[in-house]
Amino acid sequence: MSKTIVITGASAGIGMVLAKQLAARGDALMLAARSADVLRQVARSCGREAYYYATDVTRRQDVNRLRDEALRTFGNVDVWINNAGRGITRNVLELTDEDLDEMMAVNVKSALYGMQAILPHFKERGEGHLINVSSFLGRIPFASFRSAYSASKSALNSLTANLRMDLRAEYPNIHVSLVMPGAVSTGFAVNSLHAPADSGPVPMAQTPEEVVAAMIELIDHPQAEIYTNPDVQLEQVKRYYGGVGEFEENMRR
Ligand SMILES: NC(=O)c1ccc[n+]([C@@H]2O[C@H](COP(=O)([O-])OP(=O)(O)OC[C@H]3O[C@@H](n4cnc5c(N)ncnc54)[C@H](OP(=O)(O)O)[C@@H]3O)[C@@H](O)[C@H]2O)c1
Repeated sequence: MSKTIVITGASAGIGMVLAKQLAARGDALMLAARSADVLRQVARSCGREAYYYATDVTRRQDVNRLRDEALRTFGNVDVWINNAGRGITRNVLELTDEDLDEMMAVNVKSALYGMQAILPHFKERGEGHLINVSSFLGRIPFASFRSAYSASKSALNSLTANLRMDLRAEYPNIHVSLVMPGAVSTGFAVNSLHAPADSGPVPMAQTPEEVVAAMIELIDHPQAEIYTNPDVQLEQVKRYYGGVGEFEENMRR
C-alpha cells in the first residue's frame, strides 16, 4: 500500500535517490531541503504525487512549517525521514565553537525538531514511522578528521534510542529507526564543512542506490537499527579497533 512520506535533504545524494525510488513505487512525497530550485526539479522528476517545501532544518520554525505543509497536503504522514546532514573535515584540536555548533545544529537539532514536530501526529493516530539517518561513525568513531560530525551522529543515536524507549510501551505501532551507512558516493565529502578542494572518492563506498535499497526494506519492515553495509563495516571495526569485542572491551578497562 502506498505511503505518505516526508524526506529532508531530498535535493541531493541519498535523499534524492530515495525520493525517486519511493515515487516510482507509488508513495506520496513531501520533499525538503534549502535549495528550492533543485528540489522543484527533483519533485518534478518524481511525478504528480511529489511535493516540495523549501526548508532549513536548522530552524525549528521551518521544520514545523514542513510538518504543517505535509499534513495540509496529505491529511496524514506515515513516515518521516530526518535525512539532511553535513560532515566536517577537522580533527578535535582544530575545532572551533562555530564548527561544533554547526554540526550539532545540522545533524542533531535538525532531527530533534523533526521528531518533536511529527510525534504528536503519530501519537494521535497511534502509528507512524520515524527514521533518523545517522552514520556508522556515530557508533564507531574511526575517522578522526570527521570528529565533530561523528560526535553529532553519536548524539543523534542516543536521542533516537531514548525516543524509542519512551514510546515502546504506550505506542507499539510507532516505530523509531536509526540508519547507519558507512561511506556513500554522494556529494557528502565535498559538501562537508572545511572540505579540502581535492576530496576524492572514498574506498569501499556504497552507492546511494545501495543505501536506499536498505532504507526501502526498512520502511516496509521497520526495525530499530540498520547498518547499510555490515560486512565492510565489520571489517572497519576490525581494522581500527581489532574487532567488535575489542571495541567493547574498552568498557571493562
Ligand atoms: N555520504 C556519506 O558518506 C554518508 C555516510 C553516512 C551517513 N550519511 C548521512 O546521510 C545523510 C545524507 O547525506 P548525503 O550523502 O546524501 O549528503 P549530500 O549529498 O551532501 O546531501 C545532503 C542533503 O542535505 C541537505 N541539507 C544540508 N543542510 C541542510 C539544511 N540546513 N536544511 C535542509 N537541508 C539541508 C542538502 O540540501 P540543501 O543543500 O539544498 O539544503 C542535501 O539535500 C546525511 O545525514 C549524512 O550524514 C552520509
